[in-house]
Amino acid sequence: MDKIIVLDFGSQYSHLICRRIRESNIYCELLPYNTPIKTILDFKPKGIIFSGGPASVYEKNSPKPDEKVFGIGVPILGICYGHQVIVDHFKGRIRRVTNREYGNAVLKIKDKNNLFKDIRTSNIQCWMSHSDTAEIIPEGFDILGETDSSSSAAIGNRERKVFGLQFHPEVAHTENGTQILNNFSNVISGAKPDWNMSDFIQSSIENIKIKVGKDKVLCAVSGGIDSTTTAVLIHRAIKENLTCIFVNHGLLRENEENVVRELFNEKLGISIKYIEAQERFLQKLKGVSDPEDKRKIIGEEFARVFTEFAEEEGPFQWLAQGTLYPDVIESGVSKGPATVIKTHHNVGGLPSWLNLKVIEPLRYLYKDEVREAAKILQIPKELLSRHPFPGPGLAVRILGEINDEKIRISKAASKIVEDALSEDNMYNKVWQAYAMVGDDKAVGILGDRRIYGHIVTIRIVQSKDSMTADWVRVPHNTLEKISSKITNEIENVTWVTYAISSKPPATIEPQ
Ligand code: XMP
Repeated sequence: MDKIIVLDFGSQYSHLICRRIRESNIYCELLPYNTPIKTILDFKPKGIIFSGGPASVYEKNSPKPDEKVFGIGVPILGICYGHQVIVDHFKGRIRRVTNREYGNAVLKIKDKNNLFKDIRTSNIQCWMSHSDTAEIIPEGFDILGETDSSSSAAIGNRERKVFGLQFHPEVAHTENGTQILNNFSNVISGAKPDWNMSDFIQSSIENIKIKVGKDKVLCAVSGGIDSTTTAVLIHRAIKENLTCIFVNHGLLRENEENVVRELFNEKLGISIKYIEAQERFLQKLKGVSDPEDKRKIIGEEFARVFTEFAEEEGPFQWLAQGTLYPDVIESGVSKGPATVIKTHHNVGGLPSWLNLKVIEPLRYLYKDEVREAAKILQIPKELLSRHPFPGPGLAVRILGEINDEKIRISKAASKIVEDALSEDNMYNKVWQAYAMVGDDKAVGILGDRRIYGHIVTIRIVQSKDSMTADWVRVPHNTLEKISSKITNEIENVTWVTYAISSKPPATIEPQ
């Protein structure tokens, strides 16, 4: 399979470059900017892209690639900071601009071959975000496109097949951006579009068979798309040598334990071991109100449950995990801010003392690719369209200490929110929707009685990748329906509020 690699200089868009190239069915991987040339050569890349990044090439210690990358004869495309790395390497000159250029610009294309082949218009909108510019372009390079404020917005040395773009072709605001990246990958580098999900599934099943042999694999499933797809892939490869467990920690969505058991046992034909562990988790969480402490306790208790199971039912040699590509990139610079702000540890993480080898069949896939794989593997549609649900479950939706009353309220109220959105054809149009509850109370009137009940807050958000989110402008009659159902049907709730903070500054989950 032909490959393109992206060297990551720390841009928030590095993963996006990779995804755009894969969308053209060309396989692409992201590597740290300082990957040694030997590792690069081992990949046998057809082309190499330098991503953008926050540094300036003229700063001391600014990130630079292994110099030998320029001498291996593989085509190179630099984007933004990557473009400046190229200019700097070939002895052009970069300088700081007085006003940082940020936003849309019009690119006037000067050379309709190479990067701009098959683009019909001569002017395209492009997205700029930079503070440095190439003042003098290096010898052997020509200007392929310019904007009003950047005379070297696109440059290239056709003979060496080295190109630089000051703008970001990977973002949606750049017209024909995917075409530009595909022109680099396919036309200039000659990478064949031979990456497709059906082949990936076949080869991963074969690889699992070879890797695991007759060993036994343990997989914790949550009913979410990642762990389910992981389990299905491994099951296709090794059948009953896979054991799936599902732990009920008492903080699941309404009826979730039955939905997951039915999904596996009946719809997927994979038997799962159900572990009833509500009491022990809730016991450990008693009196704990700090969100990070709750996450930690749940993670540790999960590891204990897991260990006990492995010791009783084992031995197992492998642990399966549904890790995705954005989680495995080691450079750290490509991780989104959310990972830093909250410890999104996956419940089901590996207790190291178990000494199990890890198998992660999805480690090269992005979320949308996992969805595609799940479809091909005939995982039921209901699961594919289910909203994401955090590993620690209701623990991050219950403010303050967790108790039976708050669990009862948040489960029932969230079900009302989800059902109302489904009825009004909105469930599939939003990213996440639920109800949270804390210790705040307000007075209400029930019949002739004055009661002091809980305040429930509804959160319904839209998002593309959960890094940013906006609250959904839900029609008032849907909100009204949700509110009256919650106060009528759930005991001890008097008020309903709607959370209208976007992310940032708020986060999607309240804790
Ligand atoms: P935030 O609250 O950071 O959430 O805006 C972004 C996305 O991550 C989910 N989330 C979690 N997932 N463990 C998880 O597995 C966690 O501790 C956790 N906290 C938040 C959240 O539901 C949203 O989709």
